[in-house]
Order: sequence, then C-alpha cells, then structure tokens
Amino acid sequence: MKNILVLTGSARTNGNSDMMAEAFIKGASTAENYIMKYEAGKKDIKGCKGCDTCFSKGKACSFNDDFDELVPLLEKADAIIIATPIYWYSFPSELKGAIDKLYSFIIGSKTLNIKESMLLVCGETSEESDFEGITKSYERIAAIEGWANRGHLIVTGVNAKGDILSKKNLLDKIEQLGTEF
Ligand SMILES: Cc1cc2nc3c(=O)[nH]c(=O)nc-3n(C[C@H](O)[C@H](O)[C@H](O)COP(=O)(O)O)c2cc1C
Repeated sequence: MKNILVLTGSARTNGNSDMMAEAFIKGASTAENYIMKYEAGKKDIKGCKGCDTCFSKGKACSFNDDFDELVPLLEKADAIIIATPIYWYSFPSELKGAIDKLYSFIIGSKTLNIKESMLLVCGETSEESDFEGITKSYERIAAIEGWANRGHLIVTGVNAKGDILSKKNLLDKIEQLGTEF
C-alpha cells in the first residue's frame, strides 16, 4: 500500500488534466492505495520569497497561504503524480508556487518520504517539442528531490474542456498507469 499524492495544476473541474488525474486515480485506487488529490490550481499558493526562515516559525513556510494545507499531504506521500496543463511552456503559477515551496523542506532539513513520481501534462499545441521545458524541469526536480522518475506522459492538441475524450484509449492508458503504482 502506498500513499499517493496527485497534485493538479488546473482550476478547471473536469478539464483535460483533471480527467487525466481522475483516470490515474481510478487505476491507482484498485491497488488499495491511499489517494490524496490536491488541486493546487484552485488554491492560493504564492511564490517563495527566499527568506530562508522555513520551519523557524512553527510551520514549513513562514508566510500564510494554502501551502500550509498541502504540507501534511506532502509529509504523508510515498509517491507524487503531477497532472497539469502546460501554461506558457511551464507549470501554472499556483502549482509552481507549491513546487517552489518544496524548498522549505531543504532549508528546514526535513526529509520527505516521497520515493517516486510521474508527470501527466497536456496542452493545446500539436508540437511535443513545446513540452521540452516543463518535462526537463520536472526531470530535474525529481532528480534533486530523489524521486524515482516513473516517466512523463504528454497529451498534445487539447484545449476546451473534454477535448481529451477524443483521444482514443488515452484515459484507459492513464488508468492502466495508475494500476502499476
Ligand atoms: C494561461 C494559459 C497559458 C497556456 N499556455 C499554453 C502553452 O504554452 N502551450 C500550450 O500548448 N497550451 C497552453 N495553454 C492551453 C492549455 O494548456 C490547454 O487549454 C489545456 O488543455 C488546459 O488544461 P485543463 O483543461 O486541464 O484546464 C495555455 C492556457 C492558459 C489558460
């Protein structure tokens, strides 16, 4: 049994990346894992100020925002799945804020138990090369965090809510990936 944190980047319920997250959760749930879904795109998570006072004021980040509620989920997780749209070749800002604030665990010398990760990412472009920035950034983050990278899945050509349903067998494939966790 694993504690799997599914961290999403879009604010759109039933949007394309949310459907990817839900397909993954459907697959992963059958293996009796404990699933935590955290929709960072719907939250107020600001960027890191680099004040280096992490964990010195009774909590991970000295500033108050919704990262406070993500912290216990990060502390519980054995695996992290990031399911997100691409925004300007990168992560949506609230999700990036959450990633930035992982820095607090480094400054606070706190070890997380996250051992593995995967990136599920979608966008409007038909060019897979447009995802080079986000996938490379994800790979580097996984490496420095010590997460075994279970890979990334890129979905091109989706924009309006539900576009992903026109991609034959895609959600089934993502559900299958979930069963492998
Ligand atoms: C602010 C913003 C920036 C975006 N930037 C990109 C981009 O750089 N490349 C791309 O292919 N699509 C881009 N898109 C399109 C989204 O990635 C696409 O609509 C995606 O399907 C949205 O996912 P969702 O349905 O889960 O919200 C952008 C959309 C928004 C709102």
